[in-house]
Amino acid sequence: MAEVATAQEVLYQITREDLESGLRDFPVGICQTSDVDPFKGLTYGGLPISQIADWSPERVIYLLYYGKDGSTEQIRAFTHDLASRSHCKPELLKAIKMLPREGHPMALFSMALLLAGVHHKTGDYKEDCLNVIAQVPQLVAAVINHHGGFGDGKPSNPNLGYMENFVHMLAVPGIEPKSFTQVMRLFDVLHFDHGGGNLSTFVGKAVASGLEDMYGSLSSAMCALAGPRHGKANQECLEFVEGVHAELGDKATTKDVENLIRQRLANKQLVFGFGHAVLRVEDPRATVLYAAAERLYPKDPLVRIASYLRVEGVKVLKENPKIASPYPNVDIISGTLLKAAGFKHPEYFTVLFGLSRCVGISIQIYQERCLARGGKGLPIVRPQYLYVPRNS
Ligand code: MLT
Repeated sequence: MAEVATAQEVLYQITREDLESGLRDFPVGICQTSDVDPFKGLTYGGLPISQIADWSPERVIYLLYYGKDGSTEQIRAFTHDLASRSHCKPELLKAIKMLPREGHPMALFSMALLLAGVHHKTGDYKEDCLNVIAQVPQLVAAVINHHGGFGDGKPSNPNLGYMENFVHMLAVPGIEPKSFTQVMRLFDVLHFDHGGGNLSTFVGKAVASGLEDMYGSLSSAMCALAGPRHGKANQECLEFVEGVHAELGDKATTKDVENLIRQRLANKQLVFGFGHAVLRVEDPRATVLYAAAERLYPKDPLVRIASYLRVEGVKVLKENPKIASPYPNVDIISGTLLKAAGFKHPEYFTVLFGLSRCVGISIQIYQERCLARGGKGLPIVRPQYLYVPRNS
């Protein structure tokens, strides 16, 4: 976390040009869960993501919630507490099954969170934070099973573990539970949080600042995550990797991939999976996922293509000095890894991202509502927009 300055310190200045920059680089608040440094990447509670990637999801949630690692006994008690809060009411699960199955599943996820609020809201941000973190695996399993027409899935058994239970409840065909669980534990931990200013987190906290409850705020946050510039990028990246594979085939070489990238850029087509608003190095989450993909699925043809893209993409994009961030981001490999692990439905990848990100957002909302300003909470978000007449 950036040093919290003395109250009067000037932190930045705004020029007119900055007004159309999406608030890029401007500090607008304090985040106590995680930080994204342009060169070191993501840290949770001060610890680099590479160091904690293989911790249990429950231990990492504890770290984000308390800002420090717990003892074995503390994590056991926290895990037990989450398990005891995890069951969604039958009325909620029934209501999810009445939602339309058309459209993108992220819309259903946002609706399911609103329904969860109707059935589970206490109105206490702290309670609702822990409740929704505990419930979201069952909620997401119900959304995916219903939207995909996969059937009811097995009843929740939270004693299996946070991600183990999620995979156990999913009725998606073709998944090999053991290896998919291994991949989902990693995917979940890596996507929990990404500083305070990523769009979905920012939106969720802004909505909560009007004192909307936790579930409604998270529902809005998931609408923000659903866009292709944010969470849906993982679906689009897999489709891109699949397209490259379809075009070049199993025998593609690094040179073929390099030529394809050059061709796409010459045709003004997008090359997916590179660049980030903050990062100026390879996204350390991508580094961890690449290592897992190459270790677990070295023969998978899409893993091979994604690995070639990682090297060739940077090489080609770096030639253009106008590209500030030519490095691979997490999305370039996350979908490929999920598919290699047997989850062959890219339309649910953003929902899996949301399943994870609800953890960080709900903790940040709880902290802004209940702990900030000595417990008073932050005021309603209300930035100023400068009026400029249409024809000026
Ligand atoms: C995220 O994980 O939220 C994305 O990398 C986007 C961001 O940090 O702005």
